[in-house]
Amino acid sequence: MIVLALESSCDETAAAVLCSERGMLAGEVASQIELHRATGGVVPEVASRQHLRHLRPMVTAVLERAGLGLERLDAVAATAGPGLATSLMIGLSAAKGLALGLGKPFIAVNHIEGHLLSPFAFELEIPPALGLVVSGGHTLLVDIAGFGDYRLLGQTRDDAAGEAFDKVGKLLGLPYPGGPVIDRLARTGNARRFDFPRSMLDSGDFAFSFSGLKTAVRYLLPKLPDRSEATLADVCASFQEAVVEVLTRKTMAAARASGRRIVAVSGGVSCNGRLRESLAKACAKAGLELRLARPELCTDNAGMIGFVALHRLARGQYSPLTADVDPNWHLTL
Ligand code: KG4
Ligand code: ZN
Repeated sequence: MIVLALESSCDETAAAVLCSERGMLAGEVASQIELHRATGGVVPEVASRQHLRHLRPMVTAVLERAGLGLERLDAVAATAGPGLATSLMIGLSAAKGLALGLGKPFIAVNHIEGHLLSPFAFELEIPPALGLVVSGGHTLLVDIAGFGDYRLLGQTRDDAAGEAFDKVGKLLGLPYPGGPVIDRLARTGNARRFDFPRSMLDSGDFAFSFSGLKTAVRYLLPKLPDRSEATLADVCASFQEAVVEVLTRKTMAAARASGRRIVAVSGGVSCNGRLRESLAKACAKAGLELRLARPELCTDNAGMIGFVALHRLARGQYSPLTADVDPNWHLTL
């Protein structure tokens, strides 16, 4: 089985060709980071126009790299939500048009499901696991019983973890997106120098809150003795440690509560070096298996969308061509 998958939910245009036996045959991502740097964040209209520009040549390129013609596709898939409506509609419309033209099934994929299952790419079975999705738009803990069988345990009440990294980056005058830059600067910093809040750590549930942490950084800035590189590194390390501690402790508590033996971590923030280290240590101590999405599948990509589509295709679960974008599509209801 071979699928073409498109992803255009936010500011990355991506296309991939996947095969059920051989995994990802070709995948490309066109990032708009440079473009959005000027505005310090994503401008939806600008993002949408870029998707329109990149998508067609990208589809041609991935098919060429996979060495396949359109006629070899068994289905065409695209992200239908959650995300920016004007961005989603570019990939979704293209996928529906291709599927209709080829007379092949169309599969609308939930972006969060793409992230959630990416640690298992490209396996044919999804084992029961506790999933942590940490990205720029989402922070949630999900009990995965198997493919398509998910239970939401908790999510953020305000900012997503990646959003907190990006907003703190902006406060510190760092380039967008702040996450990778803070990760790098924090390596030389002292994580114990500033005591930032660990919001909802003892709330007794699996909910998160990161907006207070961002505010705490804002209040600290005018009080800093200096703005040296070393001080900046200490702020980054201390902030990052607060995020990592909350994510690690809540994930371990959720793993205990769900009884799952595998912890599956995905999303852009799961690239974070300190988070990976902290989760590895905690899982080893608890005797749990840690499955981290490989780095190229952590940030937005079409491979993870195609992976979900392959599972849906194997089950004959297609979407109607009338399926529309759903900017607030909840994974579990
Ligand atoms: O999964 P993703 O590409 O987009 C969403 O679906 O939201 O994640 C992007 C987010 C951004 O907020 C970015 O700052 C963050 O992931 N990120 C990181 C790192 N790499 C990317 N955050 C912390 N440390 C990193 N190394
Ligand atoms: Zn994402």
